[in-house]
Amino acid sequence: MSKTEVVVYANPDLLAAAAAARLVTRLVDVQSAKGSASLVLTGGGTGVAVLEQLRDSPARDAVDWSRLDIYWGDERFVPADSDERNEKAAREALLDHVPVDPERVHVMAASDGEFGDDVDAAAAAYAEVVAKYAPTFDITLLGLGGEGHTASVFPESPAVYETVRTVVSVRDCPKPPPTRISLTLPTIRRSHDVWLMTAGEAKAEAVSLALAGAGEVQLPVAGARGQRRTLWLLDRSAAGKLTKVHA
Ligand code: 6PG
Repeated sequence: MSKTEVVVYANPDLLAAAAAARLVTRLVDVQSAKGSASLVLTGGGTGVAVLEQLRDSPARDAVDWSRLDIYWGDERFVPADSDERNEKAAREALLDHVPVDPERVHVMAASDGEFGDDVDAAAAAYAEVVAKYAPTFDITLLGLGGEGHTASVFPESPAVYETVRTVVSVRDCPKPPPTRISLTLPTIRRSHDVWLMTAGEAKAEAVSLALAGAGEVQLPVAGARGQRRTLWLLDRSAAGKLTKVHA
């Protein structure tokens, strides 16, 4: 596993803009090296803000959007047109504004989709997608919660103990909506790069504990690590309890 790198930005807007700039550069480098790239998106305020900055970036179209495979780290199991859907937020923030190949946008099913209300079947289907198309991911973007969740893997939840299935259904999620689909931590760790992106004082404790070596069962975000790189992109508030990094 990679060593952890931490970069602190003055405020959430600068964090989002810098993360978007990093993403353009990394995607271009990966596409130059191997002709395509795979990117795992996250929900949440910071994750969506990064996509909006990417949409508005003058360098945006240096990325060959037609050769980008897009996945989600997690999704809320709600109707497709619900404002709570990570897919809907990502399409409004970026995907509807760039020429992605629809065949390469791999969406986690909605609760009014082909699997109806069977979230277990929807999760199993996405595991097949991951197995077929994504033995690894080039870049996985993640947010984190104040209690240390990432994607929809929450502390001491069944998902955090999962070592066999690559994608799981999540019920009674502490962060609404309660029913979700999520990659597991071992699947996230198949990423070459894992970027944790968060802002705000409410995350400072989780950030500090994760970077101090907390265990993933109590703090799942601590288990989100990349094969090549584990990059924490923070604003000063989220870095407020770090002592080793100039915040
Ligand atoms: C979700 C996200 C979740 C999110 C964090 C941080 O679907 O809710 O995947 O893991 O990234 O809760 O969210 P904020 O950036 O809004 O604090």
